[in-house]
Amino acid sequence: MTDRSRVGTSIERALHVLGNGGLVGLPTETVYGLAADAANEEAVRRIFRAKGRPADHPLIVHVAHAEQLADWAAFVPPAAAVLADTCWPGPLTLLVPRAAHVLDVVTGGRATVGVRVPAHPLASELLQRFGGGLAAPSANRFGKVSPTTAQHVLDDLGDLVDYVLDGGACPVGVESTIVDCTVQPAQILRPGAIAAEQIELLLHGGLAAASGPSRAAGMMASHYAPAARVVLVDSRVEADRVAAGTPGSWVLDRTDDLVDYARTLYAELRDADTRGVAVVVAVMPAAAGIGHAIRDRLTKAAG
Ligand code: TXA
Ligand code: MG
Repeated sequence: MTDRSRVGTSIERALHVLGNGGLVGLPTETVYGLAADAANEEAVRRIFRAKGRPADHPLIVHVAHAEQLADWAAFVPPAAAVLADTCWPGPLTLLVPRAAHVLDVVTGGRATVGVRVPAHPLASELLQRFGGGLAAPSANRFGKVSPTTAQHVLDDLGDLVDYVLDGGACPVGVESTIVDCTVQPAQILRPGAIAAEQIELLLHGGLAAASGPSRAAGMMASHYAPAARVVLVDSRVEADRVAAGTPGSWVLDRTDDLVDYARTLYAELRDADTRGVAVVVAVMPAAAGIGHAIRDRLTKAAG
């Protein structure tokens, strides 16, 4: 059952929940996060329990301002400084060497920590007033597609989340680009709306060539999967042909507008499940710009 009293736009209430070690559904420009005080070990443990997520999967620390990167990093590598300066607030997560105080439960015991400054007015206001860092993975049950509305968060987590800040539908729709700045050259571990081409320009070519599917910890195949089977095709013509011979199928294709494709992707996959679609026939976009991220998530949905 969904309890609408758990949803609203009260920053006060969100701060109250966080201050008591509770969990808040956090709207960001990418997807909704499931946030807890990153300095409260017991609160962070609750995130893993609510999601059903293995404990060795690290969490991203969200902060209000780029200057706070230094609070969470042992030191800030040059590539991280450039990307933080130019891309934050925005859909980009930077892996940096962790500061000593960062909890093992946040990093999964790793020597690195992921940090991001989200660009969403409610998230910004909450983070500014909270002051510290909020550890937050995407607010879905482990293995499901990420939530892009407050209702998706409730649908997945119900009363396991104490309060969901309703910031409307997420404008980007796919998770942040993750750049590992602890290696040289820096490396993209997960493609997102900040495209490889853009990062390469900002780093003057100091970016390892992209290879294969995203490789951030825990990003195994069969993540991001709806209940429906997902079949990938390269054109609309092929999609219509496959769909015509497949009972219970439905064609997903926004290759005419890739920003819109990303924005609506997860809601469409959730909606297909609600309608009882058996097979989603999804048209792959070209591998450029945000097309890399859409291809990555569709490939995982089909995994
Ligand atoms: O857009 C986003 O990044 C959203 C919003 C809520 O900010 N968050 C998100 O978090 O997608 P999550 O936990 O669902 O995905 C983060 C990925 C995971 O695969 C995690 O294992 C990886 O990033 N990750 C986080 N910290 C890491 C680290 N220190 N080293 C390697 N991988 C890391
Ligand atoms: Mg996730």
